[in-house]
Amino acid sequence: MAKVTGLEGVVAGETDIGLVDGEKGYLVYRGYWAKELAVTRTYEEVAYLLWNGHLPSAEELVRLKNEMAASRQLPGYIRQIIELMPASVPMMLVLQSTIAALGEQENTSWPPVLAQAVRLASILPTIIAYRYRTLNGLTPLEPLSELGHAANYLYMLTGEKPTEAHVQALSAYLILCMEHGMNASTFAARVVLSTESDMNAAVAGAIGAMKGPLHGGAPYEVIAMLEDIGTQERAEPWLRKALESGTKIMGFGHRIYKTKDPRAEALQIATQEMIGKDPSFDLALHVEATAIHLLQEYKPGRRLFTNVEFYAAAILKALELSPDIFTPTFTAGRIIGWTAHIMEQAANNRIFRPQSVYTGPMPQNEF
Ligand code: ACO
Repeated sequence: MAKVTGLEGVVAGETDIGLVDGEKGYLVYRGYWAKELAVTRTYEEVAYLLWNGHLPSAEELVRLKNEMAASRQLPGYIRQIIELMPASVPMMLVLQSTIAALGEQENTSWPPVLAQAVRLASILPTIIAYRYRTLNGLTPLEPLSELGHAANYLYMLTGEKPTEAHVQALSAYLILCMEHGMNASTFAARVVLSTESDMNAAVAGAIGAMKGPLHGGAPYEVIAMLEDIGTQERAEPWLRKALESGTKIMGFGHRIYKTKDPRAEALQIATQEMIGKDPSFDLALHVEATAIHLLQEYKPGRRLFTNVEFYAAAILKALELSPDIFTPTFTAGRIIGWTAHIMEQAANNRIFRPQSVYTGPMPQNEF
Protein backbone atom coordinates (compact mmCIF):
# COMPACT_ATOMS: atom_id res chain seq x y z
CA MET A 1 0.00 0.00 0.00
CA ALA A 2 1.21 3.55 -0.74
CA LYS A 3 2.95 5.30 2.17
CA VAL A 4 0.97 8.26 3.57
CA THR A 5 3.16 11.16 4.71
CA GLY A 6 0.84 14.20 4.89
CA LEU A 7 3.97 16.25 4.04
CA GLU A 8 4.92 16.13 7.74
CA GLY A 9 8.30 17.81 8.26
CA VAL A 10 8.47 19.02 4.63
CA VAL A 11 9.40 22.70 4.27
CA ALA A 12 6.93 24.13 1.72
CA GLY A 13 8.18 27.72 1.67
CA GLU A 14 9.67 30.64 3.57
CA THR A 15 7.56 33.22 5.35
CA ASP A 16 8.06 36.50 7.23
CA ILE A 17 4.60 36.28 8.77
CA GLY A 18 4.69 33.83 11.67
CA LEU A 19 6.80 31.30 13.56
CA VAL A 20 5.49 28.26 15.42
CA ASP A 21 8.09 26.45 17.58
CA GLY A 22 6.46 23.58 19.43
CA GLU A 23 9.54 22.59 21.44
CA LYS A 24 10.04 26.07 22.91
CA GLY A 25 6.33 26.94 22.97
CA TYR A 26 6.85 29.98 20.71
CA LEU A 27 4.19 31.61 18.59
CA VAL A 28 5.57 34.76 16.96
CA TYR A 29 3.74 37.17 14.63
CA ARG A 30 6.18 39.31 12.63
CA GLY A 31 8.63 39.64 15.51
CA TYR A 32 6.09 39.95 18.36
CA TRP A 33 4.85 37.28 20.81
CA ALA A 34 1.30 36.41 19.80
CA LYS A 35 0.38 35.90 23.47
CA GLU A 36 1.48 39.46 24.25
CA LEU A 37 -0.35 40.95 21.25
CA ALA A 38 -3.52 39.09 22.27
CA VAL A 39 -3.78 40.83 25.62
CA THR A 40 -2.34 44.24 24.70
CA ARG A 41 -3.60 44.99 21.16
CA THR A 42 -6.88 45.16 19.24
CA TYR A 43 -8.00 42.98 16.32
CA GLU A 44 -7.36 45.82 13.87
CA GLU A 45 -3.83 46.49 15.19
CA VAL A 46 -2.75 42.86 14.84
CA ALA A 47 -4.43 42.51 11.43
CA TYR A 48 -2.46 45.57 10.32
CA LEU A 49 0.76 44.01 11.66
CA LEU A 50 0.24 40.70 9.88
CA TRP A 51 -0.74 42.36 6.61
CA ASN A 52 1.90 45.11 6.57
CA GLY A 53 4.79 43.80 8.66
CA HIS A 54 4.72 46.56 11.29
CA LEU A 55 2.30 47.84 13.92
CA PRO A 56 0.22 50.81 12.77
CA SER A 57 0.85 54.42 13.73
CA ALA A 58 -2.17 56.18 15.29
CA GLU A 59 -3.06 57.61 11.89
CA GLU A 60 -2.68 54.27 10.07
CA LEU A 61 -4.87 52.60 12.68
CA VAL A 62 -7.66 55.16 12.29
CA ARG A 63 -7.53 54.71 8.52
CA LEU A 64 -7.74 50.91 8.79
CA LYS A 65 -10.59 51.04 11.33
CA ASN A 66 -12.55 53.36 9.03
CA GLU A 67 -11.88 51.15 6.02
CA MET A 68 -12.98 48.04 7.90
CA ALA A 69 -16.12 49.69 9.26
CA ALA A 70 -17.02 50.82 5.72
CA SER A 71 -16.46 47.30 4.30
CA ARG A 72 -18.89 45.34 6.50
CA GLN A 73 -22.07 45.71 4.45
CA LEU A 74 -23.58 42.71 2.65
CA PRO A 75 -24.60 43.25 -0.98
CA GLY A 76 -28.25 42.34 -1.70
CA TYR A 77 -27.39 39.23 -3.74
CA ILE A 78 -25.29 37.83 -0.86
CA ARG A 79 -28.27 38.28 1.49
CA GLN A 80 -30.40 36.40 -1.04
CA ILE A 81 -27.90 33.54 -1.33
CA ILE A 82 -27.79 33.20 2.47
CA GLU A 83 -31.59 33.21 2.75
CA LEU A 84 -32.00 30.68 -0.08
CA MET A 85 -29.70 28.10 1.52
CA PRO A 86 -31.66 25.46 3.44
CA ALA A 87 -31.22 25.44 7.22
CA SER A 88 -29.33 22.13 6.91
CA VAL A 89 -26.41 23.84 5.10
CA PRO A 90 -23.63 24.22 7.69
CA MET A 91 -22.29 27.69 8.42
CA MET A 92 -18.84 26.89 7.00
CA LEU A 93 -20.41 26.03 3.62
CA VAL A 94 -22.40 29.26 3.74
CA LEU A 95 -19.14 31.15 4.31
CA GLN A 96 -17.34 29.28 1.55
CA SER A 97 -20.12 29.86 -1.01
CA THR A 98 -20.70 33.52 -0.20
CA ILE A 99 -16.99 34.42 -0.19
CA ALA A 100 -16.62 32.69 -3.57
CA ALA A 101 -19.74 34.40 -4.93
CA LEU A 102 -18.57 37.78 -3.68
CA GLY A 103 -15.52 37.41 -5.92
CA GLU A 104 -17.79 37.38 -8.96
CA GLN A 105 -18.91 40.99 -8.45
CA GLU A 106 -16.00 42.66 -6.70
CA ASN A 107 -12.44 43.56 -7.59
CA THR A 108 -10.52 40.28 -7.80
CA SER A 109 -7.67 41.36 -10.03
CA TRP A 110 -4.21 39.74 -10.06
CA PRO A 111 -2.10 40.31 -8.05
CA PRO A 112 -4.28 40.38 -4.91
CA VAL A 113 -4.20 43.68 -3.02
CA LEU A 114 -4.68 44.73 0.59
CA ALA A 115 -8.09 46.31 -0.08
CA GLN A 116 -9.43 42.84 -0.96
CA ALA A 117 -8.11 41.42 2.33
CA VAL A 118 -9.71 44.28 4.26
CA ARG A 119 -13.05 43.67 2.52
CA LEU A 120 -13.05 39.90 3.19
CA ALA A 121 -12.00 40.17 6.85
CA SER A 122 -14.59 42.92 7.43
CA ILE A 123 -17.52 41.19 5.77
CA LEU A 124 -17.00 37.69 7.20
CA PRO A 125 -18.55 38.43 10.65
CA THR A 126 -21.52 40.09 8.93
CA ILE A 127 -22.14 36.91 6.91
CA ILE A 128 -21.90 34.75 10.06
CA ALA A 129 -24.24 37.02 12.05
CA TYR A 130 -26.74 37.37 9.17
CA ARG A 131 -26.97 33.60 8.76
CA TYR A 132 -27.07 33.00 12.52
CA ARG A 133 -29.89 35.46 13.14
CA THR A 134 -32.03 34.47 10.14
CA LEU A 135 -31.75 30.78 11.07
CA ASN A 136 -32.75 31.53 14.66
CA GLY A 137 -35.80 33.63 13.73
CA LEU A 138 -34.09 36.91 14.69
CA THR A 139 -33.99 40.05 12.55
CA PRO A 140 -30.50 40.51 11.05
CA LEU A 141 -28.77 43.67 12.26
CA GLU A 142 -26.87 46.23 10.26
CA PRO A 143 -23.24 46.60 11.38
CA LEU A 144 -22.50 49.57 13.64
CA SER A 145 -19.68 51.66 12.24
CA GLU A 146 -18.81 53.22 15.60
CA LEU A 147 -17.88 49.79 17.02
CA GLY A 148 -14.51 48.07 16.50
CA HIS A 149 -14.34 44.74 14.68
CA ALA A 150 -14.71 42.40 17.69
CA ALA A 151 -17.36 44.54 19.40
CA ASN A 152 -19.41 44.82 16.22
CA TYR A 153 -19.27 41.03 15.71
CA LEU A 154 -20.70 40.45 19.20
CA TYR A 155 -23.30 43.18 18.65
CA MET A 156 -24.46 41.71 15.32
CA LEU A 157 -24.83 38.25 16.94
CA THR A 158 -26.53 39.22 20.19
CA GLY A 159 -28.25 42.53 19.40
CA GLU A 160 -26.64 44.12 22.47
CA LYS A 161 -23.61 46.36 22.73
CA PRO A 162 -21.03 44.15 24.52
CA THR A 163 -19.11 45.00 27.67
CA GLU A 164 -15.46 46.01 27.34
CA ALA A 165 -14.40 42.77 29.10
CA HIS A 166 -16.32 40.67 26.55
CA VAL A 167 -14.79 42.60 23.66
CA GLN A 168 -11.28 42.09 25.05
CA ALA A 169 -11.85 38.38 25.56
CA LEU A 170 -13.21 37.82 22.04
CA SER A 171 -10.47 39.99 20.61
CA ALA A 172 -7.79 37.94 22.42
CA TYR A 173 -9.31 34.74 21.04
CA LEU A 174 -9.52 36.08 17.46
CA ILE A 175 -5.94 37.40 17.58
CA LEU A 176 -4.64 34.02 18.77
CA CYS A 177 -6.47 32.30 15.91
CA MET A 178 -5.03 34.62 13.25
CA GLU A 179 -1.84 32.84 12.28
CA HIS A 180 -0.27 29.43 12.82
CA GLY A 181 2.41 28.74 10.21
CA MET A 182 1.85 26.40 7.28
CA ASN A 183 -1.30 24.76 8.66
CA ALA A 184 -3.65 22.95 6.25
CA SER A 185 -5.95 25.90 5.46
CA THR A 186 -3.11 28.41 5.01
CA PHE A 187 -1.30 25.96 2.75
CA ALA A 188 -4.55 25.44 0.80
CA ALA A 189 -4.91 29.22 0.36
CA ARG A 190 -1.33 29.51 -0.95
CA VAL A 191 -1.77 26.57 -3.33
CA VAL A 192 -4.96 28.03 -4.85
CA LEU A 193 -3.40 31.49 -5.16
CA SER A 194 -0.23 30.09 -6.74
CA THR A 195 -2.19 29.32 -9.93
CA GLU A 196 -2.75 33.11 -10.23
CA SER A 197 -6.29 32.60 -9.07
CA ASP A 198 -7.84 35.40 -7.01
CA MET A 199 -8.00 36.16 -3.30
CA ASN A 200 -11.66 35.16 -2.93
CA ALA A 201 -11.02 31.77 -4.55
CA ALA A 202 -8.00 31.21 -2.30
CA VAL A 203 -9.96 32.14 0.87
CA ALA A 204 -12.88 29.95 -0.22
CA GLY A 205 -10.41 27.05 -0.62
CA ALA A 206 -8.99 27.74 2.84
CA ILE A 207 -12.48 27.74 4.36
CA GLY A 208 -13.03 24.32 2.79
CA ALA A 209 -9.89 23.04 4.55
CA MET A 210 -10.89 24.68 7.83
CA LYS A 211 -14.29 22.96 7.73
CA GLY A 212 -12.81 19.51 8.36
CA PRO A 213 -12.89 18.16 11.93
CA LEU A 214 -9.12 17.54 11.90
CA HIS A 215 -8.49 21.27 11.54
CA GLY A 216 -11.36 23.56 12.54
CA GLY A 217 -11.33 22.54 16.16
CA ALA A 218 -14.23 21.65 18.38
CA PRO A 219 -13.92 23.26 21.80
CA TYR A 220 -17.43 22.10 22.69
CA GLU A 221 -15.95 18.69 23.54
CA VAL A 222 -14.07 20.46 26.33
CA ILE A 223 -17.29 22.18 27.42
CA ALA A 224 -19.06 18.78 27.49
CA MET A 225 -16.24 17.33 29.61
CA LEU A 226 -16.28 20.21 32.13
CA GLU A 227 -20.06 19.98 32.39
CA ASP A 228 -19.86 16.22 32.96
CA ILE A 229 -17.19 16.63 35.67
CA GLY A 230 -19.40 19.24 37.32
CA THR A 231 -17.53 19.85 40.60
CA GLN A 232 -13.91 20.07 41.75
CA GLU A 233 -14.31 16.97 43.96
CA ARG A 234 -15.35 14.89 40.97
CA ALA A 235 -12.37 15.98 38.81
CA GLU A 236 -9.76 13.49 39.98
CA PRO A 237 -11.94 10.33 39.94
CA TRP A 238 -13.46 11.40 36.57
CA LEU A 239 -10.06 11.98 34.98
CA ARG A 240 -8.55 8.78 36.45
CA LYS A 241 -11.44 6.73 35.11
CA ALA A 242 -11.03 8.31 31.65
CA LEU A 243 -7.27 7.70 31.57
CA GLU A 244 -7.65 4.12 32.84
CA SER A 245 -10.13 3.36 30.06
CA GLY A 246 -7.72 4.86 27.45
CA THR A 247 -9.90 7.91 26.69
CA LYS A 248 -8.06 11.07 25.66
CA ILE A 249 -8.63 14.10 27.85
CA MET A 250 -10.06 16.86 25.68
CA GLY A 251 -8.06 20.09 25.53
CA PHE A 252 -4.71 18.39 26.28
CA GLY A 253 -1.85 17.39 23.97
CA HIS A 254 -0.77 18.83 20.63
CA ARG A 255 1.04 17.47 17.57
CA ILE A 256 3.47 20.40 17.57
CA TYR A 257 3.50 21.94 21.06
CA LYS A 258 5.33 19.90 23.67
CA THR A 259 4.92 22.64 26.28
CA LYS A 260 1.77 24.51 27.29
CA ASP A 261 0.30 25.89 24.03
CA PRO A 262 1.17 29.65 24.14
CA ARG A 263 -2.35 30.41 22.89
CA ALA A 264 -3.80 28.60 25.92
CA GLU A 265 -1.62 30.73 28.21
CA ALA A 266 -2.89 34.01 26.72
CA LEU A 267 -6.49 32.85 26.63
CA GLN A 268 -6.24 31.87 30.30
CA ILE A 269 -5.22 35.45 31.15
CA ALA A 270 -7.99 36.92 28.97
CA THR A 271 -10.63 34.60 30.44
CA GLN A 272 -9.47 35.33 33.97
CA GLU A 273 -9.74 39.08 33.36
CA MET A 274 -13.14 38.75 31.76
CA ILE A 275 -14.80 36.39 34.19
CA GLY A 276 -12.96 37.27 37.40
CA LYS A 277 -13.89 34.98 40.28
CA ASP A 278 -16.32 32.42 38.94
CA PRO A 279 -17.05 28.79 39.92
CA SER A 280 -16.99 27.44 36.35
CA PHE A 281 -13.62 29.09 35.70
CA ASP A 282 -12.27 27.81 39.03
CA LEU A 283 -13.40 24.34 37.95
CA ALA A 284 -11.52 24.72 34.62
CA LEU A 285 -8.34 25.74 36.49
CA HIS A 286 -8.71 22.82 38.88
CA VAL A 287 -9.32 20.34 36.02
CA GLU A 288 -6.25 21.69 34.21
CA ALA A 289 -3.97 21.26 37.22
CA THR A 290 -5.35 17.81 38.07
CA ALA A 291 -5.17 16.57 34.47
CA ILE A 292 -1.56 17.72 33.99
CA HIS A 293 -0.59 15.92 37.20
CA LEU A 294 -2.44 12.72 36.22
CA LEU A 295 -1.14 12.77 32.62
CA GLN A 296 2.41 12.69 34.04
CA GLU A 297 1.42 9.64 36.07
CA TYR A 298 -0.47 7.76 33.31
CA LYS A 299 1.51 8.96 30.27
CA PRO A 300 5.06 9.51 31.57
CA GLY A 301 7.44 11.23 29.15
CA ARG A 302 4.70 12.21 26.65
CA ARG A 303 4.80 15.94 27.55
CA LEU A 304 1.03 16.56 27.49
CA PHE A 305 -0.15 20.05 28.40
CA THR A 306 -3.18 22.27 27.85
CA ASN A 307 -3.88 23.14 24.22
CA VAL A 308 -5.74 26.14 22.73
CA GLU A 309 -9.07 24.31 22.76
CA PHE A 310 -9.18 24.15 26.55
CA TYR A 311 -9.36 27.91 27.16
CA ALA A 312 -11.12 28.62 23.85
CA ALA A 313 -13.94 26.58 25.35
CA ALA A 314 -13.89 28.65 28.54
CA ILE A 315 -13.96 31.93 26.61
CA LEU A 316 -16.61 30.97 24.07
CA LYS A 317 -18.82 29.58 26.84
CA ALA A 318 -18.45 32.73 28.92
CA LEU A 319 -19.39 34.81 25.85
CA GLU A 320 -22.45 32.56 25.46
CA LEU A 321 -21.69 31.95 21.78
CA SER A 322 -23.60 29.08 20.22
CA PRO A 323 -21.40 25.98 19.50
CA ASP A 324 -22.38 26.04 15.81
CA ILE A 325 -20.46 29.30 15.37
CA PHE A 326 -17.26 28.22 17.16
CA THR A 327 -15.46 27.14 13.96
CA PRO A 328 -16.78 30.16 11.97
CA THR A 329 -15.49 32.42 14.77
CA PHE A 330 -12.08 30.71 14.56
CA THR A 331 -12.30 31.44 10.79
CA ALA A 332 -13.01 35.14 11.48
CA GLY A 333 -9.60 35.22 13.18
CA ARG A 334 -7.65 32.99 10.76
CA ILE A 335 -8.76 34.97 7.69
CA ILE A 336 -6.12 37.55 8.62
CA GLY A 337 -3.33 34.97 8.40
CA TRP A 338 -4.71 33.52 5.17
CA THR A 339 -4.89 36.88 3.42
CA ALA A 340 -1.40 37.85 4.66
CA HIS A 341 -0.04 34.57 3.25
CA ILE A 342 -1.94 35.07 -0.01
CA MET A 343 -0.28 38.47 -0.52
CA GLU A 344 3.13 37.04 0.45
CA GLN A 345 2.67 34.18 -2.04
CA ALA A 346 1.68 36.60 -4.81
CA ALA A 347 4.70 38.82 -4.16
CA ASN A 348 7.07 35.96 -5.09
CA ASN A 349 4.87 33.43 -6.82
CA ARG A 350 5.68 30.04 -8.25
CA ILE A 351 2.91 27.52 -8.86
CA PHE A 352 2.90 24.62 -6.35
CA ARG A 353 3.50 21.43 -8.32
CA PRO A 354 4.92 18.66 -6.12
CA GLN A 355 5.75 15.20 -7.43
CA SER A 356 4.13 11.92 -6.53
CA VAL A 357 5.60 8.43 -6.63
CA TYR A 358 3.48 6.08 -8.74
CA THR A 359 2.81 2.83 -6.86
CA GLY A 360 0.19 1.32 -9.24
CA PRO A 361 0.74 -1.39 -11.85
CA MET A 362 2.38 -0.82 -15.26
CA PRO A 363 0.59 -1.85 -18.47
CA GLN A 364 1.44 -5.46 -19.36
CA ASN A 365 1.28 -4.94 -23.13
CA GLU A 366 3.46 -3.09 -25.67
CA PHE A 367 1.62 -0.24 -27.43
N1 ACO B 1 -5.21 12.53 26.90
C1 ACO B 1 -4.58 11.39 27.21
N2 ACO B 1 -3.55 10.87 26.52
C2 ACO B 1 -3.12 11.57 25.47
C3 ACO B 1 -3.71 12.79 25.09
C4 ACO B 1 -4.78 13.28 25.85
N3 ACO B 1 -5.38 14.42 25.55
N4 ACO B 1 -3.09 13.27 24.00
C5 ACO B 1 -2.13 12.36 23.70
N5 ACO B 1 -2.15 11.35 24.59
C6 ACO B 1 -1.28 10.19 24.64
C7 ACO B 1 -1.66 9.16 23.58
O1 ACO B 1 -2.60 8.25 24.07
C8 ACO B 1 -0.33 8.53 23.28
O2 ACO B 1 -0.04 7.62 24.32
P1 ACO B 1 0.72 6.23 24.00
O3 ACO B 1 2.09 6.64 23.54
O4 ACO B 1 0.68 5.54 25.31
O5 ACO B 1 -0.08 5.56 22.93
C9 ACO B 1 0.67 9.68 23.40
O6 ACO B 1 0.05 10.61 24.30
C10 ACO B 1 0.93 10.39 22.07
O7 ACO B 1 -0.34 10.73 21.50
P2 ACO B 1 -0.62 10.97 19.98
O8 ACO B 1 -2.09 10.85 19.74
O9 ACO B 1 0.29 10.12 19.14
O10 ACO B 1 -0.17 12.46 19.83
P3 ACO B 1 -0.47 13.34 18.60
O11 ACO B 1 0.58 14.36 18.56
O12 ACO B 1 -0.68 12.55 17.37
O13 ACO B 1 -1.90 13.95 18.97
C11 ACO B 1 -3.67 15.32 19.58
C12 ACO B 1 -2.17 15.25 19.24
C13 ACO B 1 -4.48 14.73 18.42
C14 ACO B 1 -4.04 16.78 19.77
C15 ACO B 1 -3.92 14.53 20.87
O14 ACO B 1 -3.12 15.03 21.91
C16 ACO B 1 -5.40 14.52 21.28
O15 ACO B 1 -6.17 13.73 20.75
N6 ACO B 1 -5.80 15.40 22.25
C17 ACO B 1 -7.17 15.46 22.70
C18 ACO B 1 -8.07 16.18 21.70
C19 ACO B 1 -7.82 17.67 21.64
O16 ACO B 1 -7.68 18.36 22.64
N7 ACO B 1 -7.78 18.20 20.39
C20 ACO B 1 -7.54 19.62 20.11
C21 ACO B 1 -6.12 19.83 19.66
S1 ACO B 1 -5.71 21.54 19.44
C22 ACO B 1 -6.06 21.91 17.84
O17 ACO B 1 -6.24 21.05 17.06
C23 ACO B 1 -6.22 23.35 17.39
